[in-house]
Amino acid sequence: MSDKMSFKTLTPVPRVERLESLTLGDLNDLCDSATAAIEGGGGFGWIKVPERDVLERYWQGVVAMPSRILLVARLDGVICGTCQLMKPPPNNEAQSLSVQLTTNFVAPWARGHGLARMLLKEAEAQARAQDYMVINLDVRVTMTAAIALYEKEGFKRIGEHPCYARVNGKILKGFYYYKIISPEAAEQAT
Ligand SMILES: CC(C)(COP(=O)(O)OP(=O)(O)OC[C@H]1O[C@@H](n2cnc3c(N)ncnc32)[C@H](O)[C@@H]1OP(=O)(O)O)[C@@H](O)C(=O)NCCC(=O)NCCS
Repeated sequence: MSDKMSFKTLTPVPRVERLESLTLGDLNDLCDSATAAIEGGGGFGWIKVPERDVLERYWQGVVAMPSRILLVARLDGVICGTCQLMKPPPNNEAQSLSVQLTTNFVAPWARGHGLARMLLKEAEAQARAQDYMVINLDVRVTMTAAIALYEKEGFKRIGEHPCYARVNGKILKGFYYYKIISPEAAEQAT
C-alpha cells in the first residue's frame, strides 16, 4: 500500500439568499467578510475597519430595519458577501417605484465564483417581487470590477459626480446608474 495520501479537490458551492434573522455564526461571518472587504479597499464606505462591536451593531441594525432587504452570498455555507436594497421612505410616494442598491461586496477570498452576479440577479428578483420598477445605484470610479459587472447586467450610467468620495485624503469621482426592471415602466419612460 502507498504511504502517500490522496486528496480530492472539492468544488466550492456558491449560493445567495435573503437573510431576515441572524444566527451568531452568520453575524460573525458578516463581520469577518466586511472586515476582509474593507481591508481589500472595497468596504461599502468604510475605509478603516471599525471596532468589532460597531460592525456587529451595524449588521443587527440592517436586519432589524423594515426598510432594508439584506441579501447574502455564501461559499460552502459561509457568508462571504452581501448587497442590500434600500426602500424609499413612506413619505416619498412619488419615488415609491425605485429601490437603491448598496453595500455590494464579495470578500476577496470568495471572488471569481460568480457570487456578485448572483447577488445582483437575486436583488432584481426581490425588487420585482415587491413591485419595484427601478434599481438605482452609485459607485466610486475606482471600483472597476463592480462597474464592469453593473454595465454587463444592463445598468445604464446617467452621470458622474466629480466630488463623490474622499479616500485617504484623495477626492474621487463617482458614477450613478439605474436599471428599469419593469416592462410597464420601460414602456412609459421617455
Ligand atoms: C465587484 C465584486 C463585488 C465582484 O465580485 P465577484 O463575486 O468576484 O464577481 P463575479 O465572480 O460575480 O463576476 C461578475 C462580473 O464582475 C466583473 N468582474 C469581477 N471581477 C473582475 C475583475 N477583477 N476585473 C474586472 N471585472 C471583474 C466581470 O464583469 C464579471 O463578469 P464575467 O465573469 O462575465 O467577466 C468584488 O470585486 C468586490 O467586492 N469589489 C469591491 C467592492 C465593490 O466594488 N463593491 C461595489 C460598490 S458599489
